[in-house]
Amino acid sequence: MNKILGVVAASASALFLFASTAAQAASCDPGKPGADLSFEEAQKVYDCLKADLYAGYQKGKKRWIPVEHVKDYRDWTPVSTVPAAPGFHGGRFLFTYVNEVGAAEYLKYAEENVKMPAGTLIAKESFAVTDKGKVKRGPLFFMQKTAAGKSPETNDWYYYAVAPNGSPMGVPVVKACHQCHAENFGDRDGLGYPVEEARITK
Ligand code: HEC
Repeated sequence: MNKILGVVAASASALFLFASTAAQAASCDPGKPGADLSFEEAQKVYDCLKADLYAGYQKGKKRWIPVEHVKDYRDWTPVSTVPAAPGFHGGRFLFTYVNEVGAAEYLKYAEENVKMPAGTLIAKESFAVTDKGKVKRGPLFFMQKTAAGKSPETNDWYYYAVAPNGSPMGVPVVKACHQCHAENFGDRDGLGYPVEEARITK
């Protein structure tokens, strides 16, 4: 693990763990720690959890979060082959979808000079598997590229997240989201990308 990602790890676990909720479908539990799951086993958990995860995100009022994005994201282009855990996230698995405006650009996984088009929407589902092998649903994270100049302090990205029970998560987005994306992935327009083994490449 390099130094930057070490720092990422420390703050990421602090942010992401507070919003986990035990999955209702106990039968999705793989019975072994998340860190030990193969891609195939992680996919099995996701298949089992998929409907429950989506249903949870839909519950209740979304307030400042555009409800249609929460409803529609599963129709966007998946950019991961399997739910995968970035090494430094321990047992947290992520699965990312990008809307039509941004999919082609995102799927290049370019390392520099990336400029995502205004109107790009990215959604990232998450779940965790504890050291005891229990599944916990995680937040649904969004990034939305605004028109140029609309949000200069976040490089024209809006960030928001929905908790597993459907509540919008009140987080200070510059500190809690943008700083990490900008500092670590500045040349890539703030994009983190899934781990390489889980990327869809065309
Ligand atoms: C400590 C660093 C860190 C923080 C804080 C963070 N992220 Fe991320 N984010 C990442 C990394 C690393 C990835 C790529 C990992 C992956 O998708 O497998 C990522 C990926 C994403 C993606 C998928 C698009 C992409 O970059 O490839 C979205 C959407 C996202 N984050 C939203 C958010 C939101 C919203 C917040 C604040 C609530 C947030 N992130 C906070 C590190 C962070």
